[in-house]
Amino acid sequence: MRTTRIVEMLEVTEAAALAAGRWMGKGEKNLADNAAVEAMRQAFDMLDISGEIVIGEGERDEAPMLFIGEKVGRGGEEIDIAVDPLEGTNLTAYGQPNSLAVLAFGPKGTLLNAPDTYMMKVATGPSAAGAIHVDATPTENVRAVAKALDREPEEIVVCILDRERHAGMIEEVRRSGARIRLISDGDVFGAVATAIEGTGIHLYMGIGGAPEGVLAAAAMKCIGGQFMGRFAFRNDSERERASVMSKCDIDGVLDMECLVRTDDAAFIATGVTDGELLRGVKYFGGGSRTHSVAMDGKTGTVRFIETVYQTGPERIWVRKD
Ligand code: FBP
Repeated sequence: MRTTRIVEMLEVTEAAALAAGRWMGKGEKNLADNAAVEAMRQAFDMLDISGEIVIGEGERDEAPMLFIGEKVGRGGEEIDIAVDPLEGTNLTAYGQPNSLAVLAFGPKGTLLNAPDTYMMKVATGPSAAGAIHVDATPTENVRAVAKALDREPEEIVVCILDRERHAGMIEEVRRSGARIRLISDGDVFGAVATAIEGTGIHLYMGIGGAPEGVLAAAAMKCIGGQFMGRFAFRNDSERERASVMSKCDIDGVLDMECLVRTDDAAFIATGVTDGELLRGVKYFGGGSRTHSVAMDGKTGTVRFIETVYQTGPERIWVRKD
């Protein structure tokens, strides 16, 4: 039953990625996003769930679909759903790496309802889980991860969004000795990469979208990494929205227990463009191919899944690697 649900949800992110991938490099981030949203919405409606979007494409009046509070599915198990149909709209629009179609789900009432504001975030993988803190300085967090991994700070790579607001943080991380992987967009990838061997990223820090924070926290909960956040409101109306929506101390530390109040969450992402975590969508005569990761907190299972959709009349070669 659980595996069936995971595969059903996998088809939802695959649908979004297949729709968005067509827009790779076309310079049209909104059209890419719309395609992903529409495909995801249609895929949800094939499922026997009573889902509520708790992290979505904004609020009802500003988003045509998958808005916060929207109900999806044909009826069935009641679940909370967090979505980012296209995480990294610019990455897709300009053919850059690591754009993803992402969702997380959990039992009703378990995923934090976060408005579209900013969040200060830190994340690290299972080997250093518990060592970092959102209120610690960048130097302290670098040293803590280095110690937990039995390395020197020079052997740590920190992923940070390349934004003017991070200038001081970037300077301090450089002084700490750590190396830096600056990304132009896509901090769900940045946070989750800390828990995936082979990405070469050990620590994520910086201010990014709060909705993306909840999605990353769900992934880290599933795989035993650490994520910690703190809302970074830009104005009083964002603070007001958060106090109405979020069932937590909106001025306090947002730890994983508050962001994802269950051990039964699941996180699923499908690559749109090629990246270190996932390969992007490939189209060819008679079919298409997607690459996804599905993390199930309930069973501790992490699956990397390649799916071949055969749409043409002829059979196509299926490669195994
Ligand atoms: P979109 O997919 O909505 O374009 O967001 C991409 C992203 O880079 C997120 O990964 C990140 O959390 C957020 O934008 C950062 O926001 P900003 O671009 O305002 O700094």
